[in-house]
Amino acid sequence: MKIGMFDSGLGGLTVLKEFVKKYPNNIYIYYGDTKNIPYGDKTKQELIKLIREIITFFEKEKVDMIIIACGTISSMCLNEIRQMTNILIYDVISPTIEYLQKTNQNKIGIFATNATINSHIFKTSLKNKKILEIATQEFVPMIENNKIDLNIIKKYCNQISSCDVLVLGCTHYPILEQKLKKYLPDVLIINMAIPLLNKVKLFNDSNLSREIVSNEIVLYFTKKSDTLLQNINNVLDFPYKIIFL
Ligand code: DGL
Repeated sequence: MKIGMFDSGLGGLTVLKEFVKKYPNNIYIYYGDTKNIPYGDKTKQELIKLIREIITFFEKEKVDMIIIACGTISSMCLNEIRQMTNILIYDVISPTIEYLQKTNQNKIGIFATNATINSHIFKTSLKNKKILEIATQEFVPMIENNKIDLNIIKKYCNQISSCDVLVLGCTHYPILEQKLKKYLPDVLIINMAIPLLNKVKLFNDSNLSREIVSNEIVLYFTKKSDTLLQNINNVLDFPYKIIFL
């Protein structure tokens, strides 16, 4: 299967990583829109314009499926994307909401971008739970520039330390997971890629253990930055090919 995934930058690679681990024998085309990062501060109109280009790109690539590996786009533009194309679409937020609806955990903290928090997607979909939504927009530039400020992380962690669960509502945030765990040892941290993986049923032939070759995973980025290559290598532990658009 040929799978397209996209995000504003590095974040969606945390989703790609989990997919390649569970479903290695597919072709993955990743689109990181680094020219337009951050998405979390953009209006819906601005995002829709950017997405149109990405969907056209994936249509030309003839992908079988598109994974919206971005919390911001998942929370704001899912219906619009479904109207743009006939390609099968999965978003990264709905499977986490479905998972949370079935759990007993009641007090749920959400860290996400301004746009996702302002959409209140978690609060409106989980009415019987206590939801604490916190915009942590500083995390994205910290991750992209590889300048992690532990004081900022600690400040936000203190705000949700009484929660049972913390949802990493932006796909960049799993890159900080180990650091978040240090401040929140008793909180269950959810990487949204995991419920998504359980929802998307691909032919699971990982037991064939065929080695992945780099031209099966192609990463497209719309802009180069000083830290990009190093950051990609910090997230991905398999070979890939990179192309700048
Ligand atoms: N990784 C994205 C998300 O999941 C976008 C972050 C941004 O560009 O603001 O929301």
